[in-house]
Amino acid sequence: MNPLIAPSILASDFANLQQEVEMLNQSEADFIHVDIMDGVFVPNISFGIPVTESIHKHAKKPLDVHLMIVHPENYLEAFRNAGAEILSVHIEACPHLHRTLQAIKQLGAKAGVAVNPHTSISMLSEIIEEVDLVCIMSVNPGFGGQKFIENTYSKVSRLKDLILSKGSKTLIEVDGGVNLDNTPRLLDAGADILVAGSFVFNSPDPTQLISRMKESV
Ligand code: DX5
Ligand code: ZN
Repeated sequence: MNPLIAPSILASDFANLQQEVEMLNQSEADFIHVDIMDGVFVPNISFGIPVTESIHKHAKKPLDVHLMIVHPENYLEAFRNAGAEILSVHIEACPHLHRTLQAIKQLGAKAGVAVNPHTSISMLSEIIEEVDLVCIMSVNPGFGGQKFIENTYSKVSRLKDLILSKGSKTLIEVDGGVNLDNTPRLLDAGADILVAGSFVFNSPDPTQLISRMKESV
């Protein structure tokens, strides 16, 4: 199966957001990955609800919103209203993850859980059947353009095993430092969705690069 591709708008030119979104509309991208950073959960601030709304106004692809914020439960409705189709919260920011996932589903969105590089897949074993998507961070969240962490391959395999053992339909997303070099091994390990920021937007031909990632089976 071809992977689903989710270019991260964080790496785009914010002064030309409409054009960047229209470029993604024309491409083979499956989602637009929207990185929300609060300067507390992660050491960086990106953008918030009004910008997400503006992206949604022009987007023909569903928004995959990655909340790198503390107390994400307080902002789920606002981001859903701003156009989020998938809402991913960090397991490290959710003491009541089950409740938070139920709240996301009640809003009619797909419920995602993101896990930092140090977080073990075993933390998901009691909840995996409630999760539509697990976002495995292959860098420490907070910045685009970082180096891919090699341990991610085995982590994806362990997650795939857990999903299969529970008979769950959870999708596996990998986020951070993804490029055409690591894509084949990630897909072999069981990844379904690839997020790519700098690799796509720093390219002279982002649309073509998205197609190449899509075809890299
Ligand atoms: C990292 C973000 C990623 C990032 C990916 O904190 O969650 O989505 O934008 O960017 P690249 O592909 O440049 O690592
Ligand atoms: Zn992200």
